[in-house]
Formats: sequence, structure tokens, C-alpha cells
Amino acid sequence: MAKKMWAGRFEKATDKTVNDYNSSLPFDSRMYAQDIEGSVAHSAMLARQGIISQKDADDIREGLLSIKADIESGKLTFDSDAEDIHMFIEEELTNRIGDAGKRLHTGRSRNDQVALDQRLYLVDEALDVIELLDELIETITDMAKEHITTYMPGYTHLQRAQPITYAHYLTAYIEMFKRDRDRIEAAASRANVSPLGSGALAGTTYPLDRESVADELGMNGVTMCSLDGVADRDFAIEFASSISILMMHLSRMSEEIILYASQEFKFYELDDAYSTGSSMMPQKKNPDVAELTRGKTGRVYGDLISLLVIMKGLPLTYNKDMQEVQESLFDVIDTIKGVLPPFTGMMKTMTIRKDNMEAAALGGFTNATDLADYLVRKGIPFRETHAISGKLVHYCIENNTTLEKLSIEQFKQFSDLIEEDVYDAISLETCVNKRTLTGGPAPDTVKRYLDNQ
Ligand code: ARG
Repeated sequence: MAKKMWAGRFEKATDKTVNDYNSSLPFDSRMYAQDIEGSVAHSAMLARQGIISQKDADDIREGLLSIKADIESGKLTFDSDAEDIHMFIEEELTNRIGDAGKRLHTGRSRNDQVALDQRLYLVDEALDVIELLDELIETITDMAKEHITTYMPGYTHLQRAQPITYAHYLTAYIEMFKRDRDRIEAAASRANVSPLGSGALAGTTYPLDRESVADELGMNGVTMCSLDGVADRDFAIEFASSISILMMHLSRMSEEIILYASQEFKFYELDDAYSTGSSMMPQKKNPDVAELTRGKTGRVYGDLISLLVIMKGLPLTYNKDMQEVQESLFDVIDTIKGVLPPFTGMMKTMTIRKDNMEAAALGGFTNATDLADYLVRKGIPFRETHAISGKLVHYCIENNTTLEKLSIEQFKQFSDLIEEDVYDAISLETCVNKRTLTGGPAPDTVKRYLDNQ
């Protein structure tokens, strides 16, 4: 086992079990590019400030870039007993360029280094997630544009409530996903500040230029307290919570996909390429993508709870417990990046059964409120019209019919104010088209909304 860089005050080598237990290399190696980017910026600044020579800085930069190239070509692998990615790269650098490599860590601690790496990594990954989310938003916006006048029942308590359109249904998710996008963007922007210069916890006596390093790394600024700079993992928690909310939305939509693709609803027909069969039952076509999305939501919530619990009892500043933050954060990133492409593909390819949606909208007395509103316009107070409409619904159920199929004579048994114009007032089209307020289902209103996306 190579001698540890911090071995000066130790008499014994680390026990093998402790070495393996302690090592984060198996998972933090994924941040190699950010670690190198941070080290290049740090060493260039050290030279600008006259803390190391320009020659050393140039050698460090070249050495680091060659390490990056070798990792990417597969020439350099991570099979090492190094404690973490920071030690791995520094050891490798020193092997390659000698003493200059040992000057890289001047004015820096792994505590501020690892916080920087995670922030840079998160910002990069958040951009990927936003791009994938944009594709989903675009997909369902395009679908909505095709279904401005596709009627369907809106539900409360999963009971048919009032008629809406499929476009209107989809705009609910467009709104949710847009809020998710904002939250992810805000979390990434808050993460995008540099903790370098915090040192181990108390800053450093070297005349570092923190701002120029942050600038060079494309960050928004620097952290304002060295203790917080090394102890803070809010950025991981905020990101995980934004993704948890996104997963909650995807999970609700998944639940509806599962229902709507069932033989009982038949609103959706999933594409063969986005569904699976049963090994035993030949007739089955299962909505696995939606089910897995619903399941993975639990997994992401688990990651968020892990992060919150890891951090809750930690005294300032750095504690090794914080190494555990990384795997939960990475799992959130990997999970959402795995969820979005098949989910978007499933939405894009499924067939919408307009006829069944419309039949369901016609079937559930979803125009009963509009009948009550019709009678209000005839001068009866709403509480009374609600009761009259309710009695008519009861009458229809007993006689196995629907409101719009009743004759005028039948209507008049319940209120003689009902006239021929009732049929127009309670038609599916009227029920939807008259709801023109901002946010409502009327085709013109929804179209205006979609055109503004
Ligand atoms: N691998 C460590 C982590 O992820 C890096 C920081 C180590 N710092 C220390 N003081 N041991 O937390």
C-alpha cells in the first residue's frame, strides 16, 4: 500500500479494512473532470499571486490535462488504493511531473476541494437534467396542441366530475414540469459558488484570489464563510428535493398512465416499443415504464431522506459522514437521467383513444353542474338548482339514461323553467367552451396558453 500523504504523524499503516471502508474512490472517481478543472484554476491563480512559479503552474496544468486524457482514453484506470479521487489525481500528478505536483495543494484542503467538485458536478448534471426535462415539456406541449378539442372527463376522488379536454389535462403537467425546471435551475444557480479558499475550515494565510478562480470556473461568486464553505451540503439537499418533487409529478402522471392504459379506461394505447409482455399470460401488455417511474420515485425520496439525516447531527465543520452525501446525490442524478428518456418516449409514442375519452365524458353526468348553472340563469338560487339537478341525475340513473337524452316533458317534471335551450346549455361542447377564464379548459383559452409556451 502506498504511503499516505498525511502519514507524517502516524507510526502504523492503515488497516486494510479501514482503507477499503474509508475509500471514496469507487464513487467519487466520477468527479475526475471537475477535480482537474478546479485544480487547473487553483494552480493558475497560485502563479498569478506569485505563490508558485509560472513554470510549476504550467507543468501542473499539462500534467493534469494528460491525466484527464488518459482517464478518458482508458489508459489510466482507478484501480488504486488511493483514499479518494483528490489523492488519486495528486499522486498521479506527482508521479508524472515530480516536485511541482507537490505544490498544487498549497492553500487548499480536500475539504474545500471536495465541496467544489460536488458543486461543479451538480451544476453540469443539472444542465443535462434540464435538457431532458425540456424534451418532455416539449413533447406534451405538442401532444396538447393536437388535442385542443378532445373531450375527456375531469376527475375528483377519481369520480367523473366535469368535462375538460385532453389538452387542458396536459397543461396541468406542463405547469408542474415548468415549476420543476425553475426549481432545478435555482438549486443549480445557488450551488454555483466556489468554496475554494475556505481551506480545511478557517481559510488560509496565502494571498489567494478566490474571485478570479470562481470566475475562471464559470461560477457566480464565492462562499462567504469558510466554515460554511466546507460544512455546507445544502446544494445537494436542494437539488435532491427539486428532483423529488419532479419525481412526484412523474409518479402522479404514471399512475394515470397505468389507469388510462387499462382495459377499464382504454384512454391510452401504449406503443409496443414502450410496454412489455408477460412470461405467462399471452394477452398482457404492461405499462412497465410508468410503473418503474412510480417505483423510482420512492428511491429518490429515500436519497433525499438519507441526505437530510446524514447532515442533521453534524457539528461544524467537515465530518467524514459527509462523504456519504455523494452516493445519495449521484443516485438522484443517475435515477432522474434514467427515468426521463423512456418516459418521454412513452408519451411521444402512445395512441390517444379520443373516442373512449369522449364517451367517458358523456357518461358520468359531468354536465350536472352546468344544468344547475342553467337554472340559476333562469332565476333560481344555486342551492335549489343543485338539488333539482341532483334529482334529475337520480332519475336518469333509475331510468338508465343521461341528462341530455331526457325529453322536455321529463325535464319539466322537475322544473317548468326548463326549456328547449337546455340541450345546448348542457352539451359537452358548451360545458367546456364556456369555461374561458384564464386557466380554464375552453379550446381558445388553452390554445392561447400553448401558443405562449
Ligand atoms: N473523500 C472525502 C469526502 O468526500 C474528501 C474530503 C476528505 N477530508 C478529510 N478531512 N478527510 O468527504
